[in-house]
Amino acid sequence: MKNIVLGVTGGIAAYKSANIVSLLRKKGYDVKVIMTENATKIITPQTLETLSKNRVIVDMWEREHQIEVEHISLSEWADLILIAPATYNIVGKVANGIADDMLSTVISASKKPIYFALAMNVNMYENPILNENIQKLKNFGYHFIEADEGFLACNIEAKGRLRDEKEIIEIIEKNLNYEFPLKGKKVLITAGRTEEALDPIRYFSNHSSGKMGYSLAEEAIELGAEVTLISGPTNLTTPRGISKFISVKSAQEMFQEVMKHYEFQDIAIACAAVADYRPKHYYNEKIKKNDDELTIILERNPDILLNMGKNKKNQILIGFAAETENLLDNAKNKLKKKNLDFIVANSAYNMQQDKNLIQIIKKNGEILKFNEAKKRIVAKQIFSEIINEINK
Ligand code: C5P
Repeated sequence: MKNIVLGVTGGIAAYKSANIVSLLRKKGYDVKVIMTENATKIITPQTLETLSKNRVIVDMWEREHQIEVEHISLSEWADLILIAPATYNIVGKVANGIADDMLSTVISASKKPIYFALAMNVNMYENPILNENIQKLKNFGYHFIEADEGFLACNIEAKGRLRDEKEIIEIIEKNLNYEFPLKGKKVLITAGRTEEALDPIRYFSNHSSGKMGYSLAEEAIELGAEVTLISGPTNLTTPRGISKFISVKSAQEMFQEVMKHYEFQDIAIACAAVADYRPKHYYNEKIKKNDDELTIILERNPDILLNMGKNKKNQILIGFAAETENLLDNAKNKLKKKNLDFIVANSAYNMQQDKNLIQIIKKNGEILKFNEAKKRIVAKQIFSEIINEINK
């Protein structure tokens, strides 16, 4: 039996939440309801309590129920959180990081799938602020169930009516029953650039933005995997739903963290643009200029992927090759040398771009060519090949 937290906010459609609870219960789901203060003006907690057979929570500070930290335990208990109806206000609060009551706090503390079933007055629905908030939340992986056109409480026919309760349940059931292809699989991804310090002010690095690695992490999460992301410095936000995020600076730090986690993984993807060399000597004080030339000796960094290849047991291991010349030949050599299942060859010039153009070269010599696409789409192409490898 799956667990659903139903959040009810204070739109007129709140009375329809009774039907949602009752339909969900009939289908065998365990439902716990959280209401906002405003929702209680439209439908009583007692109604939803009777229908759900569970205590309805409104107030965060009810003394008698403080046994566990409730917002954490509820977020963990839920397989999915549905907010129906979801008002302009709750979308705005979540999009702006506000957690000032039980519902907004549970939503903010949750890594589970979250669906907002929108319902509001048409002018609010058409307000560009709502649209911007929705786009922002969609980018973070939240889901939205659009409102229907119909007769609204404000006496006009327009968009803003809560979608039919049965349709809402159909939509969330698609998520609940979805067979996640990577469910239970552990995926390790390295991403971003490394920074190799020379003195307290300077470092050696490269142009990698981290976008490809972060897109891979987002896709792995969407496919149900448990994702560890080991990232060098980037300007990106950590994808929602990451199990472990480890931030590093240098190649040596990345190497240590990768080796700590690698043996427990089912899939490992080395996407980071790791510096091959670091300054041999680190100056504790800022290097002063003078009129002479300056020679800096560089020494080799550990090749992280090579080490993963050497220690490979059952992991599916994937590397990247970014070259400015002889891309395919170099990629084929790396595939062999680093003991990979396949290698993703891409041009070094796409490092900072939103798009990428890849070819996948497999162990058996097969080459798959793809069209240029957004990195998020490229991540889908790569994972679809990984899933083919797993099912082989
Ligand atoms: O040998 P090369 O650096 O060109 O290979 C690129 C691949 O190896 C990428 O997957 C990159 O993440 C990985 N790599 C690494 N550690 C290094 C250098 C590269 O893991 N020190």
